[in-house]
Amino acid sequence: MPSSVTAFAPGRVNLIGEHTDYNEGLALPFAITDGVTVHARRGDGARVDVIASDLNRHDSFELAAPGPVRGWRAFARGAVAELQAAGSKLAGAKLEVSGTVPEGSGLSSSAALEVALCLALLGVSDARVPEGIALAKICSRIENDWVGARTGLLDQIASLFGEDDRALRIDFRTLEVSPVSLGLGDYSLVTLDSGQRHANAGARGGESGGDGESGGDGAQAPGYNQRREECARACELLGVDSLRDVTVEMAARLPDPLAARARHVITENERVEQTVAALSAGDIEHVGELLDASHQSLRDCFEVSTPAVETTVKTLHDAGAVGARIIGGGFGGHVLGLIPPGVAVPEGAVAVQPGPGARLAV
Ligand code: GLA
Repeated sequence: MPSSVTAFAPGRVNLIGEHTDYNEGLALPFAITDGVTVHARRGDGARVDVIASDLNRHDSFELAAPGPVRGWRAFARGAVAELQAAGSKLAGAKLEVSGTVPEGSGLSSSAALEVALCLALLGVSDARVPEGIALAKICSRIENDWVGARTGLLDQIASLFGEDDRALRIDFRTLEVSPVSLGLGDYSLVTLDSGQRHANAGARGGESGGDGESGGDGAQAPGYNQRREECARACELLGVDSLRDVTVEMAARLPDPLAARARHVITENERVEQTVAALSAGDIEHVGELLDASHQSLRDCFEVSTPAVETTVKTLHDAGAVGARIIGGGFGGHVLGLIPPGVAVPEGAVAVQPGPGARLAV
């Protein structure tokens, strides 16, 4: 067992399939090259020290008594608690956290932090390492039960399973992950920051300031948990377990805004399948149309867009993008654009491509 390791976990871009993960639906994310790094050194005792020096932030706690806490400290303490609860025998450690994914940006630095912390803690311990999906679920519990955001499994699976040149078709009913070649020819994908952060964004991951006591960015805008409740309520009224079992006709029987929420999820699942088909046929223009349709549905039916996001979508379209849509939980963050051959990358936009998933270096 090594006495020190460096864990890296990437953020993600979701090509399409938004707000489907907690509805047992489909999504098509890929891991990006930016992410969170955690360097771990095994300690002598049973303490865990966490430092994010670029933020002047630190924490220290006993393995046996990690919490509960909220805010930035909830990530490492939650990681220790959840790994131990899952049967991993952890060693004390000193953890140094740094990151390159902007907080609250819709690129999932919270999942990257959770995954990197878990891999680093396990890397210096004589511990059983949970399998991919099991580890994704542990990370998601950190976010749900410690950080306080009722997010699904999209971000954690993307961070753990990412592959070069491929997106991941994830079926959240079966938790089957199928890599899909992201051959875009001379087209490219870019992200452009709307400049708006999730309303409750707090300190996290080593990327930004904050008091370390706020909700954590995993705490999405309040609207996120509200959308989740609306989807659950729609299921309750229709007598089904998840929106995966609902048709457009059934959704039409719901009162507003639940009908519109359900319609988004149903059509978004269809768009994921259509995107997989368009990619395999090399019809990249159609991928662009599907991105636009996804954005319209997120704006009009799911109502997670904002004026800043709309301006950013328009900027990308005006610059020549053949498709553009909000990514992540919504209410701010980054917009994804599909840029055709011969069109310059718009000012401020950053090219993104699929990279490998989380990894450990000794
Ligand atoms: C956030 C959550 C994910 C997912 C997306 C919306 O990124 O963390 O679980 O629900 O929003 O698709």
